[in-house]
Amino acid sequence: MIKLSGFNKIKTSVFISGKGSNLKNLFRFSLKKKSPIEIVLVISNTSKAEGLIFAKRKNIKNKVFNFINRKEAENKVLKELKKEKVDLICLAGFMKILSKNFIQKFQGKIINIHPSLLPKYKGLNTHLKAIKNKDKYSGCTVHFVNSKLDSGKIILKKKIKIKKKDTPKSLSKRILKEEHILYPKAIKKIYSNL
Ligand code: GRF
Repeated sequence: MIKLSGFNKIKTSVFISGKGSNLKNLFRFSLKKKSPIEIVLVISNTSKAEGLIFAKRKNIKNKVFNFINRKEAENKVLKELKKEKVDLICLAGFMKILSKNFIQKFQGKIINIHPSLLPKYKGLNTHLKAIKNKDKYSGCTVHFVNSKLDSGKIILKKKIKIKKKDTPKSLSKRILKEEHILYPKAIKKIYSNL
């Protein structure tokens, strides 16, 4: 269980690799009075992540670490997390797999949003897989991160109907909207006892 000290918000780091729409959304959420989190650090594995532009604009501390040498990168990330006293990591489109060692150091404090109804369709191309398999529903899941890909304890899921005309693009657009509702809800759920 993660404890909230006094009335301070939980210092949170968001890890991104791309657009950062979930980052933007979590940031908006973090500014609300009732939000349990504050975003103190954005980590990206690439300087090309569009989300970094947003982080800079909002003056959120942001760092880029190239994960070619994962161990080295993770050690640098750990130092930053320690410096900022981070107590929660939100993966939001982060395209690198974190090591067992890293995850153990933040056991129960790393969560991820995944664009499928887990345990269905772990990994990539979830929308394409759902459409190809003629599934009636898809959606998104927020879960704790453990050492197996997209396999940690589920916090919340949101199901939506797949339309006949859906393409991976149209489906991903609709699911992304749901992600933006689900991620803050899941965070509130984790800290609801505080
Ligand atoms: C989202 O669909 C998320 O579920 C997946 O990667 C995408 C990231 O989108 N893990 P964004 O960068 O937050 O816009």
